[in-house]
Order: sequence, then structure tokens, then C-alpha cells
Amino acid sequence: MHTLNELPQDKAAAYAELAASLRALLDGERDLVANAANMAALLYWSLRDLNWAGFYLVEPERGDLLLGPFQGKPACVRIPIGRGVCGAAAQRRETVVVRDVHAFPGHIACDSASNSEVVVPIVRDGRLLGVLDLDSPLHARFDDEDARGLEALVRIFVESLGG
Ligand code: SME
Repeated sequence: MHTLNELPQDKAAAYAELAASLRALLDGERDLVANAANMAALLYWSLRDLNWAGFYLVEPERGDLLLGPFQGKPACVRIPIGRGVCGAAAQRRETVVVRDVHAFPGHIACDSASNSEVVVPIVRDGRLLGVLDLDSPLHARFDDEDARGLEALVRIFVESLGG
């Protein structure tokens, strides 16, 4: 069993603690779906003010983003690269922080409760595997510190998949 600890208010300390928890959680397992599922659960149940946390994974046949493991309400299944916040992060291969999703051209509203969002691309050996997407009902829930903290967590996730 994995125990979830209350995270410190300080974001740097919170992400350092999350990194240690994620390492422990993924230790000894290389399966992408299992590790993505546990990572989504860890983030959703540890970070404050989220209404969705999960993965979209590149589907090799059509090349678009396909819904992967997540926590939250049922979500859009396929997102073409370039569409919405997820598609933009995937196309640019850059983390996208959106303070107000209603002001983001092409934002895909899966849950009307979402007001802000952060999407981190997942790249392994130069190949895009998918994206990590977090949604919040708060406006401007995510900032650069969240982006850097989540990028560090995504690196731990990619490392867990092995060489
Ligand atoms: N809002 C995302 C779609 C995915 S859901 O938020 C879970 C987007 O615009 O790409």
C-alpha cells in the first residue's frame, strides 16, 4: 500500500516530496500503462485543486493523442497533434501553462469545471510518447514552478520505463 502524505505549501518542497514518492511508487516496474496509472493517481490525490490528472499517449497508427490512464471525469478520447492545449504541447514539445483555458484558442473543454491547465510533453530518446495533462477549477492554478516541478516528475516517469 502507498500512503499519501499532505504536501508542504511551499511548491519547491512539495515537488521534491512528490519526486521522492513517485520514485518509490514506480520502483521496479517498467510498464508504461501501470506507471502512468499510478503517477496519475499520485498527482490527482496529492496536489490541491485539481479536477483532472492524466495522460494522452501517442497512438502509433493514426499518430494522434489517445486517452491514457487518468483520474477525474471521463474525458475526450482522441486529440489530433496541434489541437487544444494537449495537442499544442505535443506539437511544440514544450510545456504549456494556460492561466485561463477560456482564453486559449482551440481549447478542448472535456470538463466544464476546468479553468486552468498545464500540459507537459513526454519525450523518450527524441520520440514523443504523449503528454501529461493537469486541469484545475481555479484560474491561474499553475505557474512556471509547477511546470518545472512536473517536468522533473515526467523525467522520473520516462526513466522508469528503462533504456
Ligand atoms: N483541455 C484539453 C483536453 C483534455 S482534457 O482537459 C482532459 C485540451 O485542450 O487539450
